[in-house]
Amino acid sequence: MRLATPSGFATEVFLLERPDRDLLPEGPWTLLGDACLRNAWITAGMPEPAHALWVTVPEEEKILRSLIPWLEHWARVPLHRDATVVALGGGVLTDLTGLAASLYLRGVAWQVWPTTLLAMADAALGGKTGADLAAGKNLVGAFHFPRRLVACTDFLTSLPERQLQNGRWELVKTALIQGELAWAMDMLQDGPLKLAWVERALAFKAGVVHRDPREAGERRLLNLGHTLGHALEAASGYQLLHGEAVGLGLLGACLLAEEQGLKPFPASLLDTLTRRLAPLAPMVAPWPDCLPLLARDKKAARSSGHTEKAPTVEIQCILPRPNEPAVQRALPPQAWAATHARLLSMLHQESLRA
Ligand SMILES: NC(=O)c1ccc[n+]([C@@H]2O[C@H](COP(=O)([O-])OP(=O)(O)OC[C@H]3O[C@@H](n4cnc5c(N)ncnc54)[C@H](O)[C@@H]3O)[C@@H](O)[C@H]2O)c1
Repeated sequence: MRLATPSGFATEVFLLERPDRDLLPEGPWTLLGDACLRNAWITAGMPEPAHALWVTVPEEEKILRSLIPWLEHWARVPLHRDATVVALGGGVLTDLTGLAASLYLRGVAWQVWPTTLLAMADAALGGKTGADLAAGKNLVGAFHFPRRLVACTDFLTSLPERQLQNGRWELVKTALIQGELAWAMDMLQDGPLKLAWVERALAFKAGVVHRDPREAGERRLLNLGHTLGHALEAASGYQLLHGEAVGLGLLGACLLAEEQGLKPFPASLLDTLTRRLAPLAPMVAPWPDCLPLLARDKKAARSSGHTEKAPTVEIQCILPRPNEPAVQRALPPQAWAATHARLLSMLHQESLRA
């Protein structure tokens, strides 16, 4: 099924069960795939170019150095400007491959075939490619929209349960950005993933990134849960998966919104979030480890009130609201201190109760 996207949108979006070879590029192309998907790709009758690369890239290797052998390989093949790179894998591989495609010959076309729920629901759409630096996640990258996104749910059958849950958090994020509590609650229940959720999340994100491709305004809303989330993810030494950290960041953002005087969320939603997140409590780093990471957030900026003696940093925080779209507010990183303490206390209390 081809999803409806805004007119003129840079990426054609397909949501299918089985992979379809007719959706591969028509001209010359190569494949950069996650080695753990090779069998599934070939068993599904999909073609494997002679110069395909099958790689394993854990989150810790989402760094610029990982790209060099791929670029050198493409230059040796050689791939020309008219070639398309097809990325097959989770968000780490698709972020890096998109970045490599943006760099090779100053930019070749690419397609993205996401194979994790997180990549299908979020990472593969929107043209953000990137790599991590020692100072923080995704601090280097390029906006390079893929020509086509093909999400095939059959690939999810081999995905471990923890990774499936991880992807669900980005779906919950989409619901909370829009203040859609019923949808969020539905996705927080046990039960099978619904394709309609992914479809809805993709349609929403396509609209946002089409209106604001460079994240000058509205697109920042997609960072809901990521401010605290990125800090927790890095401070855990990447023991927390990205989506799990976003889940913790979502609960944190609900609490911070309330502390900032916005309408509180119903206890039923906060309790459900807490129950689902409580098993992650041992991986939540203490506040002193999070603070420097929050201050280095790439959305941080010095506020107009800073002096050389006491520079003031503010970060763009996305605050969700029940039954209304989330809002943006610039706050100092310290604003998260009380939220972090409350979050940890709620998780610990829930763990004791369970
Ligand atoms: N570009 C964006 O807009 C954007 C948005 C959200 C997240 N991200 C990025 O996405 C990354 C996280 O992506 P992720 O959660 O997909 O993690 P991941 O890419 O690390 O994949 C998770 C694990 O699952 C394996 N895997 C992939 N597909 C599989 C399958 N079908 N069956 C079995 N195993 C499979 C991978 O080898 C890996 O070990 C983060 O680096 C994050 O920054 C990017």
